[in-house]
Amino acid sequence: MNPVEIIIKKRDGNELTPEEISFLVNGFTRGDIPDYQMSGFLMAVFLNGMTGRETAHLTFSMMRSGTCLDLSSIGRTVDKHSTGGVGDKVKLVLVPLAASCGAKVPTTFGRGLGHTGGTRDKLESIPGFRTALSKQEIFSQLKKIGAVMIGTSEDIAPADKKIYALRDVTGTVPSIPLITSSVLSKKFAGGADAFVFDVKTGSGAFMRSAKDAEKLAKLLVSISRLMKKKAVAVISGMDQPLGNTVGNILEMVEAVETLKGRGPADLRTLTIACTAHLLVLAGIAKDFKTASAFAAKNLSNGSALKKFLEIVKAQGGDTSYIEDTNRFKKAAFTREIRAAKPGYITGIDAYETGMTAHLLGAGRLKLTDTIDHEAGIILFKKVGGEVSKGEPVCALHTNRKDAIDEAAARMQKAIAIAGRKAPSKKLIIKTIRYN
Ligand code: URA
Repeated sequence: MNPVEIIIKKRDGNELTPEEISFLVNGFTRGDIPDYQMSGFLMAVFLNGMTGRETAHLTFSMMRSGTCLDLSSIGRTVDKHSTGGVGDKVKLVLVPLAASCGAKVPTTFGRGLGHTGGTRDKLESIPGFRTALSKQEIFSQLKKIGAVMIGTSEDIAPADKKIYALRDVTGTVPSIPLITSSVLSKKFAGGADAFVFDVKTGSGAFMRSAKDAEKLAKLLVSISRLMKKKAVAVISGMDQPLGNTVGNILEMVEAVETLKGRGPADLRTLTIACTAHLLVLAGIAKDFKTASAFAAKNLSNGSALKKFLEIVKAQGGDTSYIEDTNRFKKAAFTREIRAAKPGYITGIDAYETGMTAHLLGAGRLKLTDTIDHEAGIILFKKVGGEVSKGEPVCALHTNRKDAIDEAAARMQKAIAIAGRKAPSKKLIIKTIRYN
């Protein structure tokens, strides 16, 4: 087969065969197909889309590019994945929380993508934390602690690892088939039996419209069903960042605060809802209401925090940073952004906030860029908050002195203030289930 002919076929809007899709995925994973050809293919998919059948084959090829864990000896296992948001640190809280309630949670994840952050980058802000584990380590940690947090690697969904990194720097992220195959290939390779998908919609999401988010949610759930996996998709709002922080260390600190019972309301609400769905799928709770009460209790009574400390220790991380988050390094420069006029905050554009965090050093612009874990943004106000003229709305944190003026101008524009409160938007918009 010839990669150029396959690219042309997709460019011209034709349906690819399973063999053609596998040929491209395997060739790229092995290094036989170069980045420039894969970039051309990804752009053709971005522009022309894929049929459901092509998307399923792309998912399965990517899943089979590495090891697929067989966790049947562990019992029923569950995992959660977000389609990408700004300030979305739900997984950092949810995994220990669900495990503290008795669920077995093998979770897989990638790095930051586009303007959004990634769980792997956030976890790596804990000194020593390892997200690449051997099969034996995964099994023994899951049996002993009930949770394991694994990054995509040469072993687990390597095709996603490579394609994800390429999409990040070629403008090909917001595509329903590419997101579906990326999310599901690593979920299926990770071996869990049932999933909760948090599908984001709004300015800071890859699916800006609720209609596209629903399409993505339905595809995630229906391909899971093809694989005989139970799944629930929660469609949640991403017009403003989730919680009060954006950036790796800042988000880690907020996640730990939430595990200590002091987190912001939106983060807590969404985490409890996603955890509750997981507990029902895991057969631990009989219904969503009972599961929510169980999760809320374990978040408040320190059980989830204790479980997180166990996970961090087992994966080589320095737990003293979790016990005392003041130990995390801080960026050298900070700049407060102040309200230009008195009134109410009516918008904090999540996409602009994510891109500002990028500019400050929290994300990548090229494949070879390294992340500045200390960079990011702390929000002092959220939508609906009242401000007086000159009151600080947020603070930028960076080690890039030369970026701070541009970042400040961008963030100032991202904040909308009006004389009256805007109608409040729902955090959880819709839930899709096919059990
Ligand atoms: N999360 C993923 O794992 N992949 C995507 O493409 C988007 C969000």
